[in-house]
Amino acid sequence: MRGFRHQHTSDLSASLTCSTMAFDIDYLENQVDVVNDVPRRADVNGQELSVSVKLLIMKLLVKALLSKSNFDAAISMADELLQDAPNSVYPHYALGTAFSKIGDNNKAVYHCRRFLEIEPIACDLKFKQDNLATVYNNLAVSLKTLGFLDQAEIEFKQALALDDQFAAAYNNYGNLLNDKARLPEARHCFMRAIEINPEDHIAYWNLHATSNEMSEAQSIIEACISKSPTDEIAIFTLAGLRACSGDERAFNELLEYGFSNEPLVRSIEWVLSLPKMPEIHFNRWSIYDRAIALSDSQRAFYEFGVWMGDSFSYIVPSFATGFGFDSFQGLPEDWGVVPRGTYSSRGRVPDIENSKFIVGEFANTLPAFFADNQPMAGLINFDADLYSSTITALTNARPVIDKNTTLVFDEFIVNNNWEQDEFKALNEFCEIYGFKYDVVAISLFTKQVVCRLR
Ligand SMILES: C[S@@+](CC[C@H](N)C(=O)[O-])C[C@H]1O[C@@H](n2cnc3c(N)ncnc32)[C@H](O)[C@@H]1O
Repeated sequence: MRGFRHQHTSDLSASLTCSTMAFDIDYLENQVDVVNDVPRRADVNGQELSVSVKLLIMKLLVKALLSKSNFDAAISMADELLQDAPNSVYPHYALGTAFSKIGDNNKAVYHCRRFLEIEPIACDLKFKQDNLATVYNNLAVSLKTLGFLDQAEIEFKQALALDDQFAAAYNNYGNLLNDKARLPEARHCFMRAIEINPEDHIAYWNLHATSNEMSEAQSIIEACISKSPTDEIAIFTLAGLRACSGDERAFNELLEYGFSNEPLVRSIEWVLSLPKMPEIHFNRWSIYDRAIALSDSQRAFYEFGVWMGDSFSYIVPSFATGFGFDSFQGLPEDWGVVPRGTYSSRGRVPDIENSKFIVGEFANTLPAFFADNQPMAGLINFDADLYSSTITALTNARPVIDKNTTLVFDEFIVNNNWEQDEFKALNEFCEIYGFKYDVVAISLFTKQVVCRLR
């Protein structure tokens, strides 16, 4: 059985990069003990290392990879191995996994692809065969994180064609399908992951985000917690959902036990403090559907932060026209732990019907654009994450915003410093222009909030 660690990622969906090689550590130790020949350099193809050296290094790599904090060590060891054996599958396997674990997905994609391309020498065939499905899965996870959803889908399908018992790949493929607004298929994948591994609490967690109904979502999270009683994100969320449904007992206990500083708990407290309880949603598509239903479809749709155009292409068909603003170079500054440049589409601008894209830094493009007469906004999606970008977008777009504009904020709550991001920008904007706002809908899982001004 593959070993893997799962984690709640920045979007709270949990993806699984498999990190244990299909090797047994005792087996390795035995091999190193029995093979004691003098190390040889790589052959002309750069593939052949002495068996003992290869196994010894791989043993160390396995150890390093298994320890969460040792990915840097694993990378430098694997890099050294690569110098000696550039066409060996082993270092590419290790580097693909380790780079994916530390979030350098471009490098992870490169090494996973090299692993898949290399025709291994005879003694490496079994290693490649044994790890093929894992590498397709890891490649797909990295492609998904980089925003290449169609390519990621192809690789997930390869992983599952090779191994139809690969629960982690079903789980990850489910997250991808959720990202592609294909919720029934996503649901099917999570159910399949649970069927294969009934203890897979992460698949339950992800499954709840395909729900459109409060009681169903709560039951699924209860199942998740029954499999993993210490999953804090699930525990806080369930307590929050119960509180939003009128039973605040579990949530008050969390406050009493000292969890009031947790960002998710602070977010729930904010929701509970609102004058009217907003609708609770569980995925971005139902949030968008609700926002669209509230909006005047004769007006224009605006989006600040387009990236690959996923949310834009979902929303714009409901409106007369759409305007998207983005540098297409990624975040202009670090955003908490998310480095500058993340979400770059490397300048690639989407081509979507009835839509116009205004390319460049908001501070450079918005003043001139909104100085001209522009159509009033029916719906605006603020998805540029940063406080600085959001306040620039809000203040420049002021001429097209009124009380009939629906505002969607994509990263409003739940993040570590959410009060300093889009939340702060909206409150500042309202203060400057004398607005108040009603919160119509929220989603804890996707961190989104839908507002209307008054
Ligand atoms: C999270 S992504 C947008 C995601 C997109 N809405 C989707 O559906 O996947 C954030 C985008 O905001 C853009 N962005 C952030 N701040 C910006 C700024 N000040 N000027 C231009 N683009 C900016 C980045 O280039 C990036 O493409």
